[in-house]
Order: sequence, then C-alpha cells, then structure tokens
Amino acid sequence: MAEELLEIRKLTAGFVTDKGFVKATDQISLSIKKGETVCLVGESGSGKSVTSLAIMRLIEYAGGMILEGDIHFHGQGLAARRQEDMRKIRGNRIAMIFQDPMSALNPVFTVGEQIAESLRLHQNKNNQEAMKMAIDLLRLVGIPAPEIRAKQYPHEMSGGMCQRVVIAIALACNPELLIADEPTTALDVTVQAQILDLLRRLQEEMGMSILLITHDMGVAAEMADRIAVMYAGAIVEEGAVGEIFEHPAHPYTTGLLQSIPGFEGERGGELFTIRGTIPPIDQLPSGCRFHPRCPQAMDICRNQAPIDFMVAKDHRAACWLFADQSVDSGKGEGAGQS
Ligand SMILES: Nc1ncnc2c1ncn2[C@@H]1O[C@H](COP(=O)(O)OP(=O)(O)OP(=O)(O)O)[C@@H](O)[C@H]1O
Ligand code: SF4
Ligand SMILES: [Mg+2]
Repeated sequence: MAEELLEIRKLTAGFVTDKGFVKATDQISLSIKKGETVCLVGESGSGKSVTSLAIMRLIEYAGGMILEGDIHFHGQGLAARRQEDMRKIRGNRIAMIFQDPMSALNPVFTVGEQIAESLRLHQNKNNQEAMKMAIDLLRLVGIPAPEIRAKQYPHEMSGGMCQRVVIAIALACNPELLIADEPTTALDVTVQAQILDLLRRLQEEMGMSILLITHDMGVAAEMADRIAVMYAGAIVEEGAVGEIFEHPAHPYTTGLLQSIPGFEGERGGELFTIRGTIPPIDQLPSGCRFHPRCPQAMDICRNQAPIDFMVAKDHRAACWLFADQSVDSGKGEGAGQS
C-alpha cells in the first residue's frame, strides 16, 4: 500500500468570535496517500476551505486558529510549526490553487514574471533560468505560444487561461501535494472539463497527490480515488469513490448523490434536494448534526452524536444506522462528532 503523504488527525480549527471559539472543523481525520486524489465534498459552509487553510497553516492569516489535533506531512506535525518553516513548505512541497484565478494573480506583473518569481523564491533560479522554466511550464499546462503569453498580463487572458497560469505557478516547484479549492467553479463548463483533464494528466506525469475540494459530486466522481463527505464541520463519510457512489451509507451522502442530475433517484426529471439548510457553525443541533434534515432520524440521533462506524473495508460513516456493523479496518472510531 502506498505511503501516507498527509494525515489529518482529529483536527479542530475555527474562529474566535464574540460568542467564543466556534469550530469550523470538528475533530476531522483524513489521510492522503502518495499519488492519490482525495475529494472533499459538501455543501457551502461545511468547512472544506477551512480544512485546506488549516493544512497550509494559512488559517491564522484568515483570523482563525487550530485548536486541537495535528496535520502530519511525511509523518511530521505541521500544526505547531513556526510560520517561518511553513513558508518553506507552502508553495514548494504543498501548493494550493484557489477558486478564483483572477484574484490569485497579480495584475501588475506579467504571467511569466509571476511563475518565474516562484522559481526564484523556492529554487534559487536566476532570472534567465526562471523565465525559461516559466515558459516551459506554460507549455506544460497547455497554453499555446507560451513565449508570447509569458509577456502578457492577466487581464489580457481568458479565465480558463488564467487558471492554467495559476496551475503553472502551483506546479513550478514540483509539489508533492496539490490542494485545489474549487478550481473550476468560476469557469464555464467546457473550460472546467479541460482544466480537470489537465490536472489528471499532470498528476499522472508528476505523481503528486491531490486534495480536490468541490461541492460538485459529478467532479468528484470523475477525479477522485477516495471521497470524504463533509457536513457542518465534520467528515460524515469517507470511502473509495466506487463505494461512495454504489453503496452510499450516510443519509447526507445519499441526498447529495440524489441531487446530481441524471443520477438514479432523480424522479420524473425533478431534482431531489435535501430539505432544510446547513446550520451556522455556532448553532449546531444536539446529537447528530444532520438530524434536523435527516429523513431517517431516530430518537438516539437527537441526543447523542454518532461516532464513526466502519460500513465496509476502508469505508466509514458517522451515523447510528450503522451501529451494528462491525467491519474492522484498524482505524476504529474517532473522527466522530461531538
Ligand atoms: N474568517 C472567518 N471568520 C469566521 N468564520 C469563518 C471565517 N471563514 C470561514 N468561516 C466560517 O467557517 C465555516 C466553514 O467555512 P468554509 O469557508 O470552510 O466553507 P466551505 O465548505 O469552503 O464552503 P464553500 O463551498 O462556500 O466554499 C462557515 O460557517 C464560515 O462562515
Ligand atoms: S445518525 Fe441519525 S440523524 Fe444522523 S445521519 Fe444517521 S440516521 Fe440520520
Ligand atoms: Mg470554500
């Protein structure tokens, strides 16, 4: 079995507000193996971006903090690292692509200069070497006439081209882990498909691991080896992509799948929607955090938070419906809700 590259262990991260500390992630655990694509899915506000910011330790710059737990990268903890050390890891060994390519690029520098800057910073390349590599990277991400494009500014390029540039910057230092937070939602459907193809091809060529954050189960189906489903700050289900799509366990996952156009469960051309809305992070219900929206809620669900139950090998769900199931994975319970 491939080695674990990243291991998130019972990570609680959040924000200090006038109501005290509110948890945006609640004891979440998740691991990513070398060369693997893990998709983190869930509705808006479920804590997906906070998870990525915590891994990168950028959460402190967003006014938040890690309260408990750790993130192990190659077995070494990141949660207590000095920011000075994190700067050597960020953009170098772990790179990130954000949702909006325009806001990730600096309007006053050419795209070639922006890629070259990353190479100068992390790989001590001189100006000439860095620019040559920047042009090679633009070619790698499928930008035609890269020598000419390198001299252009972001506003001279389309959204899809800018996202390719952002990917080139992320790949400049040959990262071991690429975190892509909704990398295609700002793009139209055709360009989305091209960018996803590009990520897949680059992963094969470079052998990196990808944590892909998306609210789109269709994207997850296409890209993921493994899927983790997040709801209101907790990972409520995790398993191989085939398991999640063929044997979804958690009622929330089932709801997400039924809301995909064309997926079985869609009745009479009408899309299923999960009733209600995700609660604000400072107003979680008692017991199972999904219970007010769950069509299968039982008495215990209203009072007691479920722990993780193994529903199959390497497939866990935090749901009382699986309390009798006893598939031993060695992982045990733990990333449950509180
Ligand atoms: N800087 C902040 N200060 C206070 N609360 C925040 C901050 N950033 C995020 N949150 C809260 O943390 C929770 C999780 O937010 P997060 O951005 O991780 O959601 P998400 O799953 O990425 O959603 P989306 O799909 O909309 O991007 C939300 O309730 C959000 O309001
Ligand atoms: S624990 Fe209960 S309320 Fe929560 S998802 Fe399972 S059945 Fe529904
Ligand atoms: Mg987000």
